[in-house]
Amino acid sequence: MNIQFHETTKTFHLFNDHLSYILCVLENGHLGQLYCGKRIHDKEDFRYLIEKAPRPMTSYVYENDRTFSLEHIRQEYPVYGSTDYRHPAVEILQDDGSRISDFQYAAHTIFAGKPKLPGLPATYTEADGEAATLRIILKDPVTEIKLELLYTIFAYGGILARSARFINEGTKPVHLLNAMSFSLDLPDKDYVWMQLSGAWARERHIINRPLEQGILSIDSMRGNSSHEHNPFMVLKRPYTTETQGEALGFSFIYSGNYRIQAEVDTHDTTRITVGINPSGFDWKLEAGESFQTPEAVMVYSAEGLNAMSQTFHRLYRKRLARGYWRDRPRPILNNNWEATYFDFTEDRLVEIAAKAKECGVELFVLDDGWFGKRNNDLAGLGDWFANRDRLPNGIAGLSERIEALGMKFGLWFEPEMVNKDSDLYRAHPDWILQTPGRRTSHGRNQFVLDFSRNEVVDCIYGMMENILSQSKISYIKWDMNRSITECYSAALPADRQGEVFHRYILGVYDLYERLTSAFPQVLFESCASGGGRFDPGLLYYAPQGWASDDSDAVERLKIQYGTSMCYPISSIGSHVSVSPNHQVLRRTPLHTRANVAYFGTFGYELDLNKLPEEELQEVKEQISFMKEYREILQFGTFYRLKSPFEGNETVWMSVSEDKKTALVGWYRVLNNVNAPYTRVRLQGLDPDMVYTDIRSDACHYGDELMNLGLLTSDATSGEVSREEKDCGDFESKIYILKAKE
Ligand code: DGJ
Repeated sequence: MNIQFHETTKTFHLFNDHLSYILCVLENGHLGQLYCGKRIHDKEDFRYLIEKAPRPMTSYVYENDRTFSLEHIRQEYPVYGSTDYRHPAVEILQDDGSRISDFQYAAHTIFAGKPKLPGLPATYTEADGEAATLRIILKDPVTEIKLELLYTIFAYGGILARSARFINEGTKPVHLLNAMSFSLDLPDKDYVWMQLSGAWARERHIINRPLEQGILSIDSMRGNSSHEHNPFMVLKRPYTTETQGEALGFSFIYSGNYRIQAEVDTHDTTRITVGINPSGFDWKLEAGESFQTPEAVMVYSAEGLNAMSQTFHRLYRKRLARGYWRDRPRPILNNNWEATYFDFTEDRLVEIAAKAKECGVELFVLDDGWFGKRNNDLAGLGDWFANRDRLPNGIAGLSERIEALGMKFGLWFEPEMVNKDSDLYRAHPDWILQTPGRRTSHGRNQFVLDFSRNEVVDCIYGMMENILSQSKISYIKWDMNRSITECYSAALPADRQGEVFHRYILGVYDLYERLTSAFPQVLFESCASGGGRFDPGLLYYAPQGWASDDSDAVERLKIQYGTSMCYPISSIGSHVSVSPNHQVLRRTPLHTRANVAYFGTFGYELDLNKLPEEELQEVKEQISFMKEYREILQFGTFYRLKSPFEGNETVWMSVSEDKKTALVGWYRVLNNVNAPYTRVRLQGLDPDMVYTDIRSDACHYGDELMNLGLLTSDATSGEVSREEKDCGDFESKIYILKAKE
């Protein structure tokens, strides 16, 4: 990887084996975008790529010059109102009411590694040579605001991370109304836009649509990144598939309001912007203050979507997630939520845990309902001390009983929320987000604590720290069960209310940082009614997230397949739950529920005491299978082979680093009759190795399996005998392929 600056042409070329990213200083001092794509040779001069031409009805920057218009020049961080009419990367409201700015190149530095972004999650490096960074400093002559643009290119994959920092070096305050993290103008519109969208219990479904002239965007204004649209988007060529073609993935490392947008102008230039949602955002920047935007990451792949996802997986698993659990296989857990909901006693919990232990489960997690007066969802949030009616020995006593069984103990919190029926709310009714004189809406009877205030975060930290330090807690599930409404902080003046959403998220990050630093061996799992905040921001603190409240195996195929576009398999919280399933009432075989959940963190969301002996035996086998293969399932190279969005079958696989073991997950939703023979072409194997399917003993070369394919036909391709097991609806198989020594 390298960053070259060509002095004579004022051109920067960032490149590694996969990516070239070229920009230059334009004649007005702004930054022009010249190329973003597959690696090309470096050279002194790429300025012929600046598109200048006289065009009627265009406004020009310089008098007596009818060529230089920002309207038609591709840029890196465009401003509004000075000949460019597209949506800008930045908008600053000034003292005199003006919104025009003119950021001109002042200086730059190139250095090894990557700086931290204070108070914000971001990708990082650990060793020399992993990445290089270009910092370009621009200055607006009127406001004297300094703008620092950071570009980090990593040594592997087509990865480019960007962020912006504003420093008010002038004498007057200004209001940042729009401060994008990433802006990129591409020379054509020949792309299909792909997003991950849905709602509660059906998160991150893949949606594709062609780019056309006009604006396409996804965003959140809910205060959380949302179930609705994940902060991730891909532009792929119409011919791109999982295995070939160009794809550009854009991911925003942020958990609050965001916007990802593509604006195609009528000359077919595509402008991508990624950043905090400008809607409702207004950050007052006093003289001497600075504002750092969150980081956005772009991954370019010339080899299809799988290669793009694998690059995201590696980056987010190794250089976004942190801490003790980052590289460790995740414990197999049993969570009591769907087993008991609010209806439990200490003894009942121990009974569930004991059975789980007998089956090989390693961690028992106590979910909602253990604190304050929490017997239902009307009361208790905010009172983070044990409900002694249910737990006479407190959390400390229960955790000791669980540890005595030989298991680890985990606990649920919802730190950002409060019920009006709680000691915390009675003591601090002004600590919730609420707009004066307006009704305050609730979600699930709960209100949102004002995490923009340090004293609120301190108080919650104090309660959590108390429980954590007095009990044996190895895992925390951090939930967040409603979006924000009537966003307003009693602690901020009128002209700073546009800061509250962002300050709130900074408060969440602060609490995460303090807890993960104080308890570095505790495994954190993020959750927001399932997947309402499954974003890269939280991966920095919590290496895994509960992907969805929908635990049905069939629904999960789509959720997990979509999630894998950006997020590593080790981050996808996935459990086996009861049949009929609680969300969709579907009955699916136990093995299919496990076969889906293996491609994630794996665990159980049920009371194993209620399973018949035969199924308990199966559970024991599932757990020992997971223990044997979880390293490959969670940290191997993951390939999507057949999409649940395109047919009745889903196939995906994980391959070990040495390519000697591959696990293929095959899933068929509905049974067929007299169906065609089916096979699926595998990926990522060594073509010269011979692999044995250890269940059938069939042996095949890697090149056979990748070119002819793995046969997946079963008895449905012929006459189905009455004895035939595993051949109905919701069928699935895991193929274990091992290379012969
Ligand atoms: C929503 C979560 O997604 C569930 O798993 C569970 O923790 C409930 N909240 C508890 O209220």
